[in-house]
Amino acid sequence: MIERIEQLRAEGERDVAGAATTAALEEARVRHLGRRAELPNLLRGVADLPPDQRGQVGRAANQARQALEAQIAARAQELEGAELDARLAADRVDVTLPGDPPQPAGRLHLLTATRREIEDVFLGLGFTVLEGPEVELVHYNFDALNHAPNHPARDRTDTFYVGEDLVLRTHTSPMQIRAMESHPPPLYVVIPGRVYRRDSDATHTPQFHQVEGLAVDEDITLADLKGTLLAFARAIFGHEREVRLRPHFFPFTEPSVEVDVSCFNCTEGHLRDGSRCALCKGTSWLEILGAGEVDPNVYAYVDDERYDPERIAGFAFGLGIERIAMLRHAVPDLRLLYDNDLRFLEQFG
Ligand code: PHE
Repeated sequence: MIERIEQLRAEGERDVAGAATTAALEEARVRHLGRRAELPNLLRGVADLPPDQRGQVGRAANQARQALEAQIAARAQELEGAELDARLAADRVDVTLPGDPPQPAGRLHLLTATRREIEDVFLGLGFTVLEGPEVELVHYNFDALNHAPNHPARDRTDTFYVGEDLVLRTHTSPMQIRAMESHPPPLYVVIPGRVYRRDSDATHTPQFHQVEGLAVDEDITLADLKGTLLAFARAIFGHEREVRLRPHFFPFTEPSVEVDVSCFNCTEGHLRDGSRCALCKGTSWLEILGAGEVDPNVYAYVDDERYDPERIAGFAFGLGIERIAMLRHAVPDLRLLYDNDLRFLEQFG
């Protein structure tokens, strides 16, 4: 009997020592100390033994059980520690990785993409890009741009006044003056930015975007303006485009023109099936911007003798980014550009 107990104890110790996982250890415990295992059974039978054997066998079996229990507890601690370490190492989370599911990369808004394309065209022609304030002095927005004191654009029903002498700029043209004040000629700049007018319908929003252009050098003529705008029109609307200048009036250019680009949607106002082109309304021309030769009066507002109208000349133009984007992509309503409806925005970029 004692011999058997020693044998069971030795087998148990070997098994427990050899268990490589907590699961294997638990199996070993059940095998050696579980309800149907031989050693516990033996212990339970001690009472039935002849009295002279009970003490000895009982003590030996008890010691064997306690030894195994202690060994199992110690082994369990070892294995649990190792398994926890392994799990922690495997589960380590890199919080710098992108979220799951990955966020969509997004895209540029049509207006941003169009502005950048326009900038790129003029950068390619040797212009640089400037920006200026949206809250502007009346002096720069109107006076220095040769607006008569009673010019209708000065009216509070047309323009947002922030103070007596301060407006939300109604165009990017005030930057013509600011650019000349801070840079001597020759000057070739484009100025993109937000502008504000008291207008709101399918083709007007109170806030919209323009790109101003200004070139001042010796001998700049309308021919330079036309060539520059032809290059621009072809880059944006396609290589077969033509431009035409129509007489117009702006207080700060003389002569002033409106510039049309030939319609890219039709031939001479008609679609292939003979119907009238809706984009150019059958005229075969699309109005894209206002421009002209810088009025000599304007140079007088720039307090710098290097801007002497006897020695230099320049052209200026101003275009609406919304208008360019809408023409190009046949967007029917300006407000779509500001509604933030993804079904619209995702069609571009
Ligand atoms: N500032 C004018 C407008 O907003 C456009 C323009 C710019 C015209 C430059 C001529 C020269 O209508």
